[in-house]
Amino acid sequence: MLNKVSDIGNYAVECAKNAMSEKELDEIRVRYLGKKGKFTELLKSLKNLPIEERKTVGALANKFKAELEKVVSERSEKILENDINNKLKSEVFDISFPGEDFGFGTLHPVTIVQKQIEKIFTDMGFMIADGPECVTDYYCFKALNIPENHPARDMQDTYYLENGQLLRTQTSAVQVKVMEEHKPPLKVIAPGRCFRNEDLDACHENTFFQLEGMMIDKGISISNLIYFMKTLLTKVFGRDDIKIRLRPGYFPFVEPGFELDLSCLICQGKGCPTCKQSGWLELLPCGMIHPNVLKYGDIDPDEYSGFAFGLGLTRLAMMKFGIKDIRYLNSGDLRVLKQIHGE
Ligand code: DAH
Repeated sequence: MLNKVSDIGNYAVECAKNAMSEKELDEIRVRYLGKKGKFTELLKSLKNLPIEERKTVGALANKFKAELEKVVSERSEKILENDINNKLKSEVFDISFPGEDFGFGTLHPVTIVQKQIEKIFTDMGFMIADGPECVTDYYCFKALNIPENHPARDMQDTYYLENGQLLRTQTSAVQVKVMEEHKPPLKVIAPGRCFRNEDLDACHENTFFQLEGMMIDKGISISNLIYFMKTLLTKVFGRDDIKIRLRPGYFPFVEPGFELDLSCLICQGKGCPTCKQSGWLELLPCGMIHPNVLKYGDIDPDEYSGFAFGLGLTRLAMMKFGIKDIRYLNSGDLRVLKQIHGE
């Protein structure tokens, strides 16, 4: 019996020492040490032996069982180590190899211009106001001195919503709201998205960005307006040779009202599709805030006066970056947008 135990034990240990894989080791574990394994069965059968023999055989069986467990676990570690070493040898991993280039994103051209203008104005003490894109008729028209059925409403094709509100056609809709919440002296800009039901062409989109600005205080005059507009354009384009012209313009919420035009930077004033061959771009309508609008904002027009302007941010971005067709800006065509970078 002792010989039989030795034979089984030696053979099992030998097999474990030479096992080449975890799978092979597992099989050995099951075959010899498992619930129905050879050693387990052997130890169970000891009860049939005479007491003396039971002792010696049992001791030997337990010795082999312990040895086998040790060899299996050592071999298992060795196999794992070999596996890792083989993997390291076969898979060459160069840690100095440059990673995959995902590229950097850029801000949208309109955002770049908007941020730049916000900086220019906040440096001059203006605050930035934010207004909703869905507004009531009151803020977009009535409080801006455009009563119902006034022909001036035809100047802007409006998207009316089912809830009775509308998509703001102009950032001027922020004006009276700001006046309700803040009292003069007041220097404020309000950039934002506007919507009009336009026929689309190189200059017109149904979604575009404006930046409204106004300054209200005692004794504000047209010369203040001209000063701020000149400072703005000089800084935006970073050049002193910008040509502008001021001509009368009609907007119900300003009196007098002006059109500030900028000599087209794309064609240098020679005429191109962007400026509709005129050499000039209507860039900046502005004027002195109409007394009625001040009244709607609960500001006494006999005490205070102010100027306002509405900058076409989208158009300005086109000018600054030489984008010939407004439709590129909302198209999401990355080939176009990627060419434009901020500072
Ligand atoms: N809101 C006008 C528009 O979208 C632009 C405008 C004109 C704004 C004159 C002003 C202004 O503040 O004074 O056509």
